[in-house]
Amino acid sequence: MIQTDALASGFDKQGVSFNAEGWAHHLGKLLAYERVANLNDIPHGRGLCVEIGPVEVGLFRVGGEVYAMENRCPHGDAQLSEGDLAGCVIVCSAHGWDFDVTTGFKPGDPDGFPIPCFAVRIDGDDVSVDVDDVINMRRRR
Ligand code: FES
Repeated sequence: MIQTDALASGFDKQGVSFNAEGWAHHLGKLLAYERVANLNDIPHGRGLCVEIGPVEVGLFRVGGEVYAMENRCPHGDAQLSEGDLAGCVIVCSAHGWDFDVTTGFKPGDPDGFPIPCFAVRIDGDDVSVDVDDVINMRRRR
């Protein structure tokens, strides 16, 4: 039987304090990630479109990292994953608008309204995304 009082707060073996609420929050975040692709399926120089529930997400490789951004261009709704990726900038294949996939902003315009970017985890070749964790909106809350 687990004694919840003992889990409510305390110290782990390294002397770092923890509490059950924080642990449950951390576990909940881990479970929110959904495996969406194999790393090798994401092309270089272009994106990979995946659907996570109702959200269409573009996955983009930049160096050794993978970035996840909503896949719809705000100009005319084209799929951004179909554009050309140079460095961290994707250029929409429809009319050439460009976006930094690491921030969601138009390059050089950090005061604009960004395309939502989502938290990504890579475990071996498994790429997982949490569409509930919009990482580039935190500073606006
Ligand atoms: S639809 Fe993307 S630039 Fe027009």
